[in-house]
Amino acid sequence: MLTIAQALVWAKTQLRDRGVSDDGLHESAAIDSKVLLAASLNKELVYLHTWPEKLLDELQMQTFKEFVEQRSAGHPVAHIIGYRDFWTLRLKVTPDTLIPRPETELLVEIALTLDLPESAKVLDLGTGTGAIALALASEKHNWVITGVDKQSDAVTLSKHNATSNNLERVAFMHSDWFSAVAAQQFDLIVSNPPYIEEENRYLKLGDVRFEPSSALTAGHDGLEDIRHIVAQSRRYLSGNGWLVIEHGYQQGAAVTEIFKENAYNNICTHDDLNGLPRITFGSFQ
Ligand SMILES: C[S@@+](CC[C@H](N)C(=O)[O-])C[C@H]1O[C@@H](n2cnc3c(N)ncnc32)[C@H](O)[C@@H]1O
Repeated sequence: MLTIAQALVWAKTQLRDRGVSDDGLHESAAIDSKVLLAASLNKELVYLHTWPEKLLDELQMQTFKEFVEQRSAGHPVAHIIGYRDFWTLRLKVTPDTLIPRPETELLVEIALTLDLPESAKVLDLGTGTGAIALALASEKHNWVITGVDKQSDAVTLSKHNATSNNLERVAFMHSDWFSAVAAQQFDLIVSNPPYIEEENRYLKLGDVRFEPSSALTAGHDGLEDIRHIVAQSRRYLSGNGWLVIEHGYQQGAAVTEIFKENAYNNICTHDDLNGLPRITFGSFQ
């Protein structure tokens, strides 16, 4: 029998030995061990720090060992435990779409700082788990928010997440970008679209190997979907409306150029916590 503290040491060693090592940036093995153990015990992380001497029972240890084995084989933590916390929400995650990333919380933060009407109409393009749409809805109770995705399974997932987070007022539907969106004016369009180059080596490494290319890649330069969204959003934005887009850290200048080519004003790019340009937004004001 192992205590919580001993189980964590065992898992950390196990993951490091199998190549899920601390990389100096994310301390992946240590953090992953904690998240997997908390999920095995069906508790929050703080429980591990509060009860380090508590013994795991047989079933808990067996579940934890299975989780660590899956992680050692490369599976993303979110797929193993079935959820990812994003903003203040717990979102169900499946291999049908992207696992929400912390960087995307910056997009949510920026959208919340924009000068928008009390009952703003909002569209989230490529909603995936519903992460952005639901985070905005959790902060702005009067916003009228719709999320769309081309993958039917992602739409089903986002609806599930709306229900589990008591945010059923957010509408989710199947659409190839704007194809099923009726002609109307939005005050805010947000998107974290696919933006990785099809041939990018990074696609063969780490967690992204387990995520669908439909959520990751956009043509040879990664900008195909962003070009489409920026051009098409013109027709769907109100006079004071804003378009906010997440993109790759090397795409800041190219995305700004795409906004300019489409005659947007007030174009601004924000850095993430690592100082890398990740979010660009603009309007027609
Ligand atoms: C990078 S993921 C972002 C998911 C979610 N918004 C997030 O931030 O976690 C991109 C999403 O866009 C969706 N997508 C890709 N092509 C699309 C299209 N043509 N129309 C609508 N959605 C699309 C994918 O299915 C995927 O869910």
